[in-house]
Amino acid sequence: MKLRIDGEIEVPGDKSISHRALLLATLAHGESRLQGVLPGADCRSTAAALRALGCTVPVIPADGGELRINGRGVDAWAAPAEPIDCGNSGTTTRLLLGLLASRPFCCTLTGDESLRSRPMRRVTEPLAAMGASIRDLAGPDRLPLEICGGPLRGLHHHSAKASAQVKSAVLLAGLSGGVEVSVLEPSRSRDHTERMLSGMGADVRGASAENGWQVRLTPSAGPLRPLDLSVPGDPSSAAFWVALCLLADAGELRILNVCVNPTRTGFLSILARMGARVKLENQRLAGGEPVADLTVAPSELRGTSVSTEEIPAAVDEIPILAVLAARAQGETRVVGAGELRVKESDRIAAVVSNLQAVGVDAEELPEGLVVQGSDRPLSGRVHTRADHRIAMAFGVLGALPGNHIEIDSPDVVDVSFPGFWSTLRQLSSGTSSLSLKKTR
Ligand code: S3P
Repeated sequence: MKLRIDGEIEVPGDKSISHRALLLATLAHGESRLQGVLPGADCRSTAAALRALGCTVPVIPADGGELRINGRGVDAWAAPAEPIDCGNSGTTTRLLLGLLASRPFCCTLTGDESLRSRPMRRVTEPLAAMGASIRDLAGPDRLPLEICGGPLRGLHHHSAKASAQVKSAVLLAGLSGGVEVSVLEPSRSRDHTERMLSGMGADVRGASAENGWQVRLTPSAGPLRPLDLSVPGDPSSAAFWVALCLLADAGELRILNVCVNPTRTGFLSILARMGARVKLENQRLAGGEPVADLTVAPSELRGTSVSTEEIPAAVDEIPILAVLAARAQGETRVVGAGELRVKESDRIAAVVSNLQAVGVDAEELPEGLVVQGSDRPLSGRVHTRADHRIAMAFGVLGALPGNHIEIDSPDVVDVSFPGFWSTLRQLSSGTSSLSLKKTR
């Protein structure tokens, strides 16, 4: 059987931008209008947390329709009655901690088993240095945490990692606490917070520094302007359809309206080196973010080496890259990706053990992995470790003709990509000229 994919599709709204749009809309003064906010479980965690803090946030429309939030500024936030459950979402937790650091009340944050095993000191340390008082309630460096906010002092933070969550937490603490902050990171992490805040009237500037990238926020007098934003498609979700089409036998897939912010397109640059035929068309700026339509054609891929500097802009795409590597010619080696061990699961271990389980020759490195490509049929059971991106990466591999792969917990995709399995079924059913565009 051959797999042919023809069609035009859209993917759900970008997860990082959706979180920020929800949070920042409540900080503005006036009504924000948001289209295309991701309705996945992670963004629902952010919306629920904001409600617990006294903000009026409607249910996120399942069809990407308009969401209106009447912002009353951060001073309208009130102490929640109960601990806030951030679910599976690191972005919810770390960005909220930043904003709570200046609030004159105490609040406990917790999360699911995965989130409770992820490191928090990278955020709590700079926030404590600014004056917040933070107590870990179970064990060091982990949720649940109690944060008691108050008046803050400015901070020049040197972040050991290129992490947008750390950078954003410090910037949001500076913003809500009215103090100047700067963050120096070893290389540039995704910059959606900076773009959105600038669009709302805040004074945030980034510049390259001798040893990395530095962003500075200077408190400004006026209130933040509300947002009028259409969230572009998530490149991390588009990556699964790019991969599926590259591995198909024939056809051409257009993925419309995808965020191509350069801090997010590392996957596409790596693919270009592997011989992938992916074109960016209709490049434009929408809501302060670069956006394009992607055209993908089946391609003969060759293995490649991915270096430390390439990881930040491709950090969430390594699982699907490893799947592509399993079908490329030769070896693919990823190094400098130690951060993958502290994502929703230990993604180095999860990717390698599952590739091995289905018959791929793969090995772990302390901070990376090595995959040998082949065209042999693959079969076996995948343990997702409740990680959405592991489920989707192996879902793509399992959809290829000749492979028989069972996913132990398919529902976890709801974290970032509701509807993933039905779109995968439609794309891989060989229906010619599929159109899965949103009707708005
Ligand atoms: C995110 C930042 C990245 C990324 C995560 C979303 C964000 O994490 O992996 O999926 O929205 O700021 P780090 O900040 O830990 O690199």
